[in-house]
Amino acid sequence: PGPGLEAALALIADVPDFPEPGILFKDITPLLADHSALQAVVAAIAAAGRGADGRPVVDKVLGMESRGFILGAPAALALGVGFVPVRKAGKLPRATYAVSYALEYGEATLEVHQDALRPGDRVLLVDDVLATGGTVKATVELAEKCGAEVHGVAVLMELGFLPGRETVGAVPVTALLTV
Ligand code: PRP
Ligand code: MG
Repeated sequence: PGPGLEAALALIADVPDFPEPGILFKDITPLLADHSALQAVVAAIAAAGRGADGRPVVDKVLGMESRGFILGAPAALALGVGFVPVRKAGKLPRATYAVSYALEYGEATLEVHQDALRPGDRVLLVDDVLATGGTVKATVELAEKCGAEVHGVAVLMELGFLPGRETVGAVPVTALLTV
């Protein structure tokens, strides 16, 4: 990464024993609070939606509720495209597609409006963290139900000790940082 991005990533704070003992939480709020850092990170995430000539190659950015909204919407603005929220069950008011996936305890469901994407749209998925990959995999399935083509996934952080990439499969994943 360039010096701007490196300085930005250095603002991520380690918080031991949160949310439970033995877990080292990576807190991105100091990064978000710093304008230059936020700008560098959003630019780097948006770059995953550009071609070799620097032009946008996606039609929409999808962000997953809730932390994916923080980086996804500004990445869409940086690319000059619209933003589509992928929401937790029951939040979207009109007809949706839904995909459920397993959590450590129980199950989660994500939804997208059926008319949020057009068949053939190319989309970039944006989230803060890739952990087990369940969230991204479900979102890829939602995009495909809409007939869209997933160009790639961009996350701020990847937990390298979990098999997120394998779970996601063939979709290219860009992670600004692997921990
Ligand atoms: C967190 C994080 C990612 C997801 C990654 O979201 O923001 O979206 O977990 O985990 P996975 O790769 O194992 O699916 P969470 O569901 O905690 O909700 P939040 O974004 O609303 O905080
Ligand atoms: Mg999340």
